[in-house]
Amino acid sequence: MKKIFSGIQPSGTLTIGNYLGAMQQFVQLQEDHDCYFCIVDEHAITVPQDRLKLRHNIRSLAALYLASGIDPDKSTLFIQSEVPAHTQLGWMLQSISYIGELERMTQFKDKSTGKEAVSAGLLTYPPLMAADILLYKTDIVPVGEDQKQHLELTRNLAQRFNNKFNDIFTIPEVSIPKVGARIMSLQEPTKKMSKSDENEKAYISMLDEPKKIEKKIKSAVTDSEGIVKFDKENKAGVSNLMTIYSSCTGESIEAIEAKYEGKGYGDFKSDVAQVVIDVLKPIQDRYDALIDSEKLDDILDHGADKASIPANKMLTKAKKAIGLGRVKKKK
Ligand code: TYM
Repeated sequence: MKKIFSGIQPSGTLTIGNYLGAMQQFVQLQEDHDCYFCIVDEHAITVPQDRLKLRHNIRSLAALYLASGIDPDKSTLFIQSEVPAHTQLGWMLQSISYIGELERMTQFKDKSTGKEAVSAGLLTYPPLMAADILLYKTDIVPVGEDQKQHLELTRNLAQRFNNKFNDIFTIPEVSIPKVGARIMSLQEPTKKMSKSDENEKAYISMLDEPKKIEKKIKSAVTDSEGIVKFDKENKAGVSNLMTIYSSCTGESIEAIEAKYEGKGYGDFKSDVAQVVIDVLKPIQDRYDALIDSEKLDDILDHGADKASIPANKMLTKAKKAIGLGRVKKKK
């Protein structure tokens, strides 16, 4: 059975972008793959975090994974900082990473440009992400489009390690959904929808109430043409709403164009809001039941124990390949 690994940062409440670009794929993949899904809290601290908010976001993300359909009997769900092998392998991979290649990462450039204090962790974020993936002999990494470059680097680091030391790492493939890989901001549709956007109207949080969702979609930036047609370059706002509609319902873009021929944006926007609410409402109900439950803690405890087994095995192999530590005598 092929192995899957993916992670999400607990850096705020997930958006519909995270759900449609990543989480929705995870739920399908767990049916016939050996899946590891991670709450990457150590990645989140590469930018300043409030301690209490971070704690809340970690728990909230775990509940959202489960509420979205991640089944702990089929997948391993765990918190990155509860499996120390991640940072240990991350350090080894940092040691074979070049500063130049890390500085070229667009995510690093976006997050560091114009900032006065940029943490070293922000620069060395990708080797830690590579460690997450390589510890589990991962075959496929389902992510949104923005992670493609990090995946390329992961493949390079794995190959570099294999050539330099010993051939221990599987080279992972990236899997990006055909529709929904890049959900855009509702206010600036040429920019990615992000959970850390300062403008709350730019994104739909997975926990937004139906009324709020309606309001945000009604005020989404479109154009003055009044035609529901897919054209990313000239009609970025409408095309983004069509992508959201298509990812929520499974209907093709062509079918949506045909359905709204001769109708204005008013009707279309109300329907987009409705399909988003139809997807999110049942998730929100399950979330409410899980967030304060002991069951959530049991699942995370079990997940960390389960993930630690293959992770520690791979870590031992990596240490041996490099020459770290001692060769222990058999008793
Ligand atoms: P993060 O937390 O920013 O996002 C989690 C997942 O959601 C996808 N995504 C989107 N998809 C479509 N449209 C959007 N607007 C959108 N915004 C986010 C992301 O592509 C991602 O799949 N570096 C990763 C976390 C990570 C990771 C890993 C992922 C750490 N280790 C190992 C895979 C494997 C990140 O910051 O994702």
